[in-house]
Amino acid sequence: MTDLKALQTTLLFTEEDIKALRQSKAILADQTDAILDVWYGFVASTPELVHFFSDAKTGRPDGAYLEAVRKRFALWVLDTADANYDQKWLDWQYEIGLRHNRLKKNKTDRVPSVAQVNFRYIPALTIPVTTTLKPFLAKKDASAADVEKMHTAWVKAVLMQSILWSQPYIKDGEF
Ligand code: HEM
Repeated sequence: MTDLKALQTTLLFTEEDIKALRQSKAILADQTDAILDVWYGFVASTPELVHFFSDAKTGRPDGAYLEAVRKRFALWVLDTADANYDQKWLDWQYEIGLRHNRLKKNKTDRVPSVAQVNFRYIPALTIPVTTTLKPFLAKKDASAADVEKMHTAWVKAVLMQSILWSQPYIKDGEF
């Protein structure tokens, strides 16, 4: 928990960001399906990314796998807006990291997909995820300044998580 605080300090992540994320929850709650359509549209149209949802043998995207993960991704949107950054939350971040890594990918859905999401794409996806979220933050009646604050908080929150998810990819003692 001490290390998490230090990471948040480094990301300039403050109480203001937590407030902005909370504000975003009410705005995003009834829009997760539309948001997922945009995110999945991006992944589906990017061969380098859809590869990680493909059957390892045939190379074809696994529709059932994509659909199962989509449901968990929708829950993650609201979890991120609502996070309280306690030990339980931190443990869950390690679990999500493992599920992208060869240690646990494919296990939840028992799918014969490729072994892992290559790490370099994980922090990179922070940009499309948060850039495409911004119009959804602006869809309700928040002021332009509040939309800006919520967007900034989302960039920090997603980057923070992608950093935490890197842990199983990094040699012992180097994280
Ligand atoms: C900011 C970056 C990313 C975010 C926020 C994110 C978010 C998530 C979430 C919330 C889950 C579901 C976790 C669970 O509840 O089981 C998940 C799983 C998954 N993500 Fe990501 N992800 C990111 C990067 C990527 C990238 C770059 C890929 C490559 C296409 C990817 C592919 C997958 C796959 C294949 C799964 C399923 C893993 C399994 O078999 O359990 N993710 N992701």
